[in-house]
Amino acid sequence: MAIFLTGSTGYLGSYLAAGLFAEHRDSLNLLVRAKSEQEARERLWQSLQLHFEFSEFRDYIATRVRIFRGDLTSERFGLPDDEYQKLVETSDSILHCAASLNRKSEKQCLNVNLRGSLEVIQLARRIQSRSGLRRYSHVSTVAVAGTRQDEVVREDESIDWARSDYDPYARTKKFCEHMVHQLLPDVPRTLFRPAIVLGDSRKPETTQFDMVQAFSVLASLPVLPLRADDRVDIVPADYVAKAVVTIHQKESAAHNTYHLSSGTGSQTYREITDALAREGLRKPVYFSSLGSPFSGTVNWLSDKKSSLGRGASLLKVFWPYLVWNTVFDNSRVVAELGGEAPAKFSTYAYPLLRFSRTNHFRYPAKPWPMEGATRSVSGSSAA
Ligand SMILES: NC(=O)c1ccc[n+]([C@@H]2O[C@H](COP(=O)([O-])OP(=O)(O)OC[C@H]3O[C@@H](n4cnc5c(N)ncnc54)[C@H](OP(=O)(O)O)[C@@H]3O)[C@@H](O)[C@H]2O)c1
Repeated sequence: MAIFLTGSTGYLGSYLAAGLFAEHRDSLNLLVRAKSEQEARERLWQSLQLHFEFSEFRDYIATRVRIFRGDLTSERFGLPDDEYQKLVETSDSILHCAASLNRKSEKQCLNVNLRGSLEVIQLARRIQSRSGLRRYSHVSTVAVAGTRQDEVVREDESIDWARSDYDPYARTKKFCEHMVHQLLPDVPRTLFRPAIVLGDSRKPETTQFDMVQAFSVLASLPVLPLRADDRVDIVPADYVAKAVVTIHQKESAAHNTYHLSSGTGSQTYREITDALAREGLRKPVYFSSLGSPFSGTVNWLSDKKSSLGRGASLLKVFWPYLVWNTVFDNSRVVAELGGEAPAKFSTYAYPLLRFSRTNHFRYPAKPWPMEGATRSVSGSSAA
């Protein structure tokens, strides 16, 4: 039997696939958007090369993966009947990580997050009725807590329907959590809510640059329109993946919802910029009363077609999450991981920033290696 994983061509999903390959023995049923089997394998290679050399990747794909070429926004993922049936028959748990993070598009969030999650939940119901579902894990976000200011939020205090949300992403992710609870009451289910996922505490390489680029703009400013002692809840992708994989694979979890965050251990802006200054970056002056004129300038710049415009446009969508001075209690996940807390952002921020700037905020992806390899990978698939 296999774990059905969505989002493995994305940033966090690649970490989940890599963690499951390296630390566990289960096969994976992967939902991948692609026109052909080879395109699907090449897309997986693009995301998984952050974790493996090609030979190791090829072995995992050949022995432990079955690819389902489908789309979350199509009924039954747009799979032919026999493929969908195979998915139902061969999956015994679900890890739903895919989503649209397009905070500006109500339409994208509605389609991918709401309609897409409903499709995954319907799959869960079919597996549950047929043979029982071991676990349904859903990757959510701390953004479901809605508008907040100067708070430490605990898991059970997050959902407050009377509260406004910052954007369609947060609103749709909040309703996804609701659907999971309402429609899968009889299934062991776990909701994971990562905070701002930024980089890897073990290495500088990343394939996701949006938040890094926003931070890079901030790190280049001589005057920061922020309060120096505000905390920002950042967590590295390696910690998030370890938590999700470990808890998904446990026989039983202590809770049904986990913040994957730095919590009260989150650093202040001053701690982060002091650490960057020790690496030679200019130490900024903090001037929080510039916040309103700054966000006006960011709005104006975000319409410009330049790299500054792109950075400003990213800052604009992330801004509410940078000034809310709100952190998410992580004592549940720390206990579940035997006391392990996430690495502090300041310990790996500089290598991440240097890698991202050197590569102009693009991952220097290696292409699919060679003809012979294509044949040997396509030769077999997981049982
Ligand atoms: N990154 C963060 O800071 C952060 C923080 C909190 C929570 N999260 C949550 O973590 C999860 C993963 O985020 P991420 O940062 O890894 O995002 P990402 O890199 O943008 O990956 C998104 C994944 O979803 C897939 N997807 C999107 N639309 C799809 C569709 N219609 N059909 C099938 N697959 C589709 C993408 O496939 P394609 O490759 O085909 O586009 C991709 O594999 C999300 O649930 C997000 O809400 C992320």
